[in-house]
Amino acid sequence: MSESRSETPAGDGAAPDDAAPVGDVPSIYIARLADHVGELVELRGWVDKRRSSGKIGFLELRDGSPDTVQGVVSRKEVDESSWEAMQAATQESTVRLVGRVVEDARAPSGYELHVSELEVLQATEEYPITPKEHGTAFLMENRHLWLRSSRQRAILRVRSAAIAAIREFFDRRDYVLIDSPILTPAACEGTSTLFETDYFGDPAYLSQSGQLYLEPAAAAFGKVYCFGPTFRAEKSKTRRHLMEFWMVEPEVAFLEFDGLCALAEEFLAAVVGRVLERCRGELESLERDVSVLERVQAPFPRMRYREAIELLQGEGKELQFGDDFGAEEETILASQFDRPLMITHYPVASKAFYMQPDAEDPELALALDVIAPEGYGEIIGGSQRIHDHDLLARRIDQHELPRQAFQWYLDIRRYGAFPHSGFGMGLERFVAWLTRSPHLRETIPYPRMLHKIYP
Ligand code: 4AD
Ligand code: MG
Repeated sequence: MSESRSETPAGDGAAPDDAAPVGDVPSIYIARLADHVGELVELRGWVDKRRSSGKIGFLELRDGSPDTVQGVVSRKEVDESSWEAMQAATQESTVRLVGRVVEDARAPSGYELHVSELEVLQATEEYPITPKEHGTAFLMENRHLWLRSSRQRAILRVRSAAIAAIREFFDRRDYVLIDSPILTPAACEGTSTLFETDYFGDPAYLSQSGQLYLEPAAAAFGKVYCFGPTFRAEKSKTRRHLMEFWMVEPEVAFLEFDGLCALAEEFLAAVVGRVLERCRGELESLERDVSVLERVQAPFPRMRYREAIELLQGEGKELQFGDDFGAEEETILASQFDRPLMITHYPVASKAFYMQPDAEDPELALALDVIAPEGYGEIIGGSQRIHDHDLLARRIDQHELPRQAFQWYLDIRRYGAFPHSGFGMGLERFVAWLTRSPHLRETIPYPRMLHKIYP
């Protein structure tokens, strides 16, 4: 058996086929079967399913490639030890197969393997996740195994492609990646959801957002972004909140509010487009109606907070100016449109301390939320930032934040102040919408939820 394989399982044709041969049989991934039709190859992986009927056995093999492949084991074509291995190859056993690649239009991968040799590397006993239905609590306890299921694999592949598309978007536009710290001395998004920890005797907090650290970097590099884990001790149990989630945040010097809205629009359209290009198969396997995603083209509908309140009042909601939108309100608003909705000009009092007031109506903040269609709620939150030193200092005091912890942040308004804007997009909310997953817990490999940290 070869020790390693150097090609990638999901190769889109770009990776050279430089697999290490076993004798003269190349060891390959399922994704590369097309290059070996009619030839003998070796595959290694896990038994997804197995069935047999007397003299013939069928092994569904999974090796990390997007598709599985069926190995056909015929008793009269293999030796006794391979036939015994067929009997031992229970669900999730690791196996090594050698066989001939045959085209088969009905197969998901387009191929089948006519097995000549089968070896069980480890026989698995009583794998907990069987093809029958399991409850979510059980699957969550077994998240480390649940990852192997086809639905979870499809969702996490979409997540991976979304991350790549996001990075590509900013890298191609000459943004500089600035990694913001995770341990911080101050709150960014309100003090009610802070995870506190001890930092050599002083309190420190897990970062709620990298934004405050991006703003100084924008003075060094102009266009910057960060992309990392963020933490919120959300004390409620909802399908839209995680305690640990990933956020991508651009911040741009001299970008004002209209430019920010245009950036969010361009960003979403480009990233959704790229994911559609790269993950058609995954989205189809999830039975996602991709026409909804294909419509994510600029311009997006825009609505001011005040109009949104009026619309909701018209729908019978008892809301006043100043109230926040909950999941239900966001769903009503988004359902009026067939693409993401941009809501702007929120009341200053309902938003974060750093948001720039509207020059025409200082009660309103130059804030933007993007609401995804189909009930997925707010996926992007952003704003123009206050760049006036004294106004920002007043806001810090009004929000009862410790001025001392924000001196460095105020410095940015002391040494070469500049208008600037940015936004944050929660990756899991975005992926949940892309894949139409009902709950964020399936969109991150190891979700952290209220009172749940295992595994
Ligand atoms: O609207 P938020 O709180 O904005 C910020 O943190 C800004 N500092 C970002 C910026 O301007 N640079 O959060 C941004 C996004 C939300 O729109 C949502 O998608 C996601 O982060 N988010 C969560 N996702 C999962 N679980 C949670 N608990 C989340 N809280 C926010
Ligand atoms: Mg928000």
